[in-house]
Amino acid sequence: MHELILILDFGSQYTQLIARRIREQGVYCEIRPCTDAPGELPASLKGLVLSGGPDSVLSETRPPFDPAWLDVDVPVLGICYGMQLLTALGDGVVARGEHREYGKAMLDLVDGGGALFQGVDASSQVWMSHGDHVDRAPEGYVTTASASCPVAAFEHAGQKRFGLQFHPEVHHSTAGVQIVRNFLFAICGCAGDWTMGSFIEEQVERIRAQVGTDRVICGLSGGVDSSVVAALLHKAIGDQLTCIFVDHGLNRKFEREGVVAEFQEYDLRVALAEDEFLEKLAGVDDPEEKRKAIGNTFIRVFEAEQEKIGGAKWLAQGTLYPDVIESVSFKGPSATIKSHHNVGGLPEDMTFELIEPLRELFKDEVRELGRKLGLPESRIGRHPFPGPGLGIRILGEVTKTRCDLLRDADHIAMEEIRKAGHYDEIWQALTVLLPVKSVGVMGDERTYENVAALRCVTSTDGMTADWYPMPYDLLGRISSRIINEVRGINRVVYDISSKPPATIEWE
Ligand code: XMP
Repeated sequence: MHELILILDFGSQYTQLIARRIREQGVYCEIRPCTDAPGELPASLKGLVLSGGPDSVLSETRPPFDPAWLDVDVPVLGICYGMQLLTALGDGVVARGEHREYGKAMLDLVDGGGALFQGVDASSQVWMSHGDHVDRAPEGYVTTASASCPVAAFEHAGQKRFGLQFHPEVHHSTAGVQIVRNFLFAICGCAGDWTMGSFIEEQVERIRAQVGTDRVICGLSGGVDSSVVAALLHKAIGDQLTCIFVDHGLNRKFEREGVVAEFQEYDLRVALAEDEFLEKLAGVDDPEEKRKAIGNTFIRVFEAEQEKIGGAKWLAQGTLYPDVIESVSFKGPSATIKSHHNVGGLPEDMTFELIEPLRELFKDEVRELGRKLGLPESRIGRHPFPGPGLGIRILGEVTKTRCDLLRDADHIAMEEIRKAGHYDEIWQALTVLLPVKSVGVMGDERTYENVAALRCVTSTDGMTADWYPMPYDLLGRISSRIINEVRGINRVVYDISSKPPATIEWE
């Protein structure tokens, strides 16, 4: 059992960031909805964090909170709403500000700031995002810092309870990491026993015990998550693992060849299913219909492969911790804008038992794990690629000819972006084939051909994104190579929309 910090989530947009900041310090933490009762807690619990949230503690409709959490004998850190809750549950005063405070502020420590602020400058920049604030700390608490609001931080040294009005987890709080470290190590007494090396050892043991001598299958798309799942399982159970790469004809150029070469020591089956997919996509141009057709066909192909293998009891999936949190969020899962289809995703009527060895990890931890397992950087640093593949990057009907056109254009764009050293700066780069034709002139001839759009974005998690300021000379090289080398495309445009309101993919 690792040392554990529990974060009670009151719905803050920053809750996952708090968890990542804690994990980055080598301390394992989990997020629980604020509506949970403490129940039986592990002896390894070292501390509790009450997150921020959109509600007001002054409101009748604030989320219910079981005060038994405060009887648990571990240090407590309340952030923003969490601090106001500690105040309201004591006899302090929370007041509503005249207006919301959102942005940077300067923090001034009072008498050195106490245990939470050891090693922090007397005055440093912090990030505020609140409507209410603490006007008077509860009995027994002392104010340890002030800022634009009178009580920006407080502590009850005897009870080891702490409150911060600002967000230490946000990058703009310059002393945030030091504050988190003080809480974890000096106050909660953590040693920091969460490392990827120990994770691998534990998972290997766990997988072996779980699976016994049974067979496991794993959809291997070549993306980061499925590659890391496959590598971890292969380390644990070797040839009891069968990987399936579904070649649906919607992959990038050389994708299949790359996966086959890189995973040649694995029992890897390639399901050649291009015709089947294109048949199901014939005449379909509605994006949601396409996703459904691709998802359903994927399942059918996968099932057929499974039958050929015979008797696999387990299905390995690359579910990550953010998916797990989302499904237990007390606010309910966020609205589905597009029905995401994850290759290897669980069909409801399939009779597998699930193995999800990444369900405790964030994406950056998955990458670190992949490195530790020896996957090459070229695989780990890959941009995300959607499950439905090029199918949702060909606007209008998906045909073999259009797939080939896009595959060639995309290959050139990626080659040039890599060559120019921009690949790692960009979070995701993609090429889209538009459903329009435009007039051009090549040599002495008039052309009437397709238009390709290039989209490159920066992002941290894909939830929001900005278009990437691509150098003009690179754009020029990509455009002229595509137009010269891909017969059937005579125009290239660059997408300069941010998300929101545009999404990253065009469909
Ligand atoms: P959007 O287009 O919604 O995309 O801004 C956000 C991120 O999700 C990826 N994406 C998908 N991934 N199955 C996937 O596995 C899907 O159906 C799917 N649709 C979008 C997209 O590439 C981007 O990284």
